[in-house]
This record gives sequence, C-alpha cells and structure tokens, in this order.
Amino acid sequence: MSEEPSPVLRADGLVGGYVEGVDILNGCSLDANEGEIVVVIGPNGAGKSTLIKAMFGLITPREGRVLFRGTDITGMPPHRITRLGMSYVPQVENIFPSLTIQENLEMGASQGRAELAPRMERMFEMFPILLERRRHRADGLSGGERQMLAVARALMAEPSVLLLDEPSAGLAPRAVAEVFQTVQRVNANGVTIVMIEQNARDALAIADRGFVLESGQNRFTGPGRDLLNDPKVAELYLGGATT
Ligand SMILES: Nc1ncnc2c1ncn2[C@@H]1O[C@H](COP(=O)(O)OP(=O)(O)OP(=O)(O)O)[C@@H](O)[C@H]1O
Ligand SMILES: [Mg+2]
Repeated sequence: MSEEPSPVLRADGLVGGYVEGVDILNGCSLDANEGEIVVVIGPNGAGKSTLIKAMFGLITPREGRVLFRGTDITGMPPHRITRLGMSYVPQVENIFPSLTIQENLEMGASQGRAELAPRMERMFEMFPILLERRRHRADGLSGGERQMLAVARALMAEPSVLLLDEPSAGLAPRAVAEVFQTVQRVNANGVTIVMIEQNARDALAIADRGFVLESGQNRFTGPGRDLLNDPKVAELYLGGATT
C-alpha cells in the first residue's frame, strides 16, 4: 500500500536570475515531500544557491512558480515565507560573529519575548555546546559549531521546512560528519530539509531524494541511493566510479 506523497515545497519550471537578460535558472524544478531530506548537487555556478534564493523569495523568477503547502509563494518576501514556516541558512555569513551565541539565537526568533525562552531552551537541549558557550561571541566557535549555530538560529523561527546552502562547506571531515548528523537530528524532529551540498557522496547517502542541477536545469533526479549508484552521475558529479 503506498500513499501518494504530499509535496510541502514545489518549485516548478523556474526561469530567471539577478539581472535582466541573464537567466541563471533555465526551467529547473524541485519538490520536497513532508519529512524528507532532499539534496541538491551540481557543479559550481550551476544555479543551486540561486534556486534556493528563488524558493525563499530573495529573487523573483520571471517564469515558473513556487508552492509552499499549496500556497503560491512566488516572489513573496522572505519574512512572510518565514512566517508560513520555511527558514533559510545562507551559504556564507550566516551568523553574526560579533554577537554572543544567545544574541544570535534571539535574532533568529521573529516572535515576542514570551516565545523566546522556551525556544532557546529547546535549542540548548539540542545543541549542548551552544548552552555552554551562550555568553561567548560567535566568532570564537569552530567552523562546525558555527554551522550548528546557524542551523539553530534558523530553527528559532520554528520552521517546518529548512533550506540549507552547503552547511558542510570548508569543514574538516569530522565536522562534516557532525553537520550531517545535526541535519538528520533536525529532520528526525519533523523538519523537512532541502540541502545544497558539495560533499555530494556523503549528502546523497543521507538523502531521501537528490537533484542534480547543471546550467540551471535538472540533469538527474532520484532516490539518493540510486544517484550514488548511477555510474553516469558518479562519473560526472561525484568525482569518479561508484563505490
Ligand atoms: N547576486 C548575484 N548577482 C549576479 N549574478 C550572480 C549573483 N549571485 C550569483 N550570480 C551568478 O549566478 C550563477 C549561479 O550562481 P549560484 O551561486 O546560484 O551557483 P551555485 O550552483 O550555488 O554555485 P556554488 O557551487 O559555487 O555555490 C553564477 O554565474 C554567479 O556568478
Ligand atoms: Mg552556491
């Protein structure tokens, strides 16, 4: 017995970019079902970050649309999308380095003070290292801890869908593994994940489904495991033969 999965987020045939006449997205689509981890891979400049920005209202595509739980959110401003239940962690500069850990978390919550304390408690439960260091400046954290803070900050808005742009970029292997464990833990708490990754093999290994993007178009789509085992995907995007 198989129930039809319900997409919580769907981008359909997006075309557009940053300046008129230069399209970065050339008709790409993506969908994420409730509770999934969806991973987007592809070469540098493929338009992965741009796709996420288009889904979060940071750019308005000139064609195509984005649906969040059936609501058309194409071009809706990010603060309204956040209120609907989707949060975004950018690829770079995703924390405030000169603020303390606690201040960073406070910046992530859009609601009133009353909501703040219980949410912060939940984050400290989930990320004990942040509790220990809560009065320290964020720039004192290691690379991996910073990514945890960035994720925790996004979770302060209590999203049901989290967009992550390369959370493991530039981290040492052990920290990469920690970030992916964090992502799985957040997902186990019921948050649907859409994650761009350069550590494609490790990311696909934890993905329900993956999307390979190139030149702003979909090249391959399928279950994470299938993509990992696809010789063509391995050759073109995973740096060599399947394992
Ligand atoms: N703010 C911007 N203004 C103009 N062009 C941009 C802007 N941001 C990105 N681009 C261009 O859009 C194209 C796609 O960039 P994008 O950041 O989406 O790629 P990406 O797949 O995320 O690459 P990477 O793996 O390097 O992060 C690139 O040619 C880039 O130069
Ligand atoms: Mg990018």
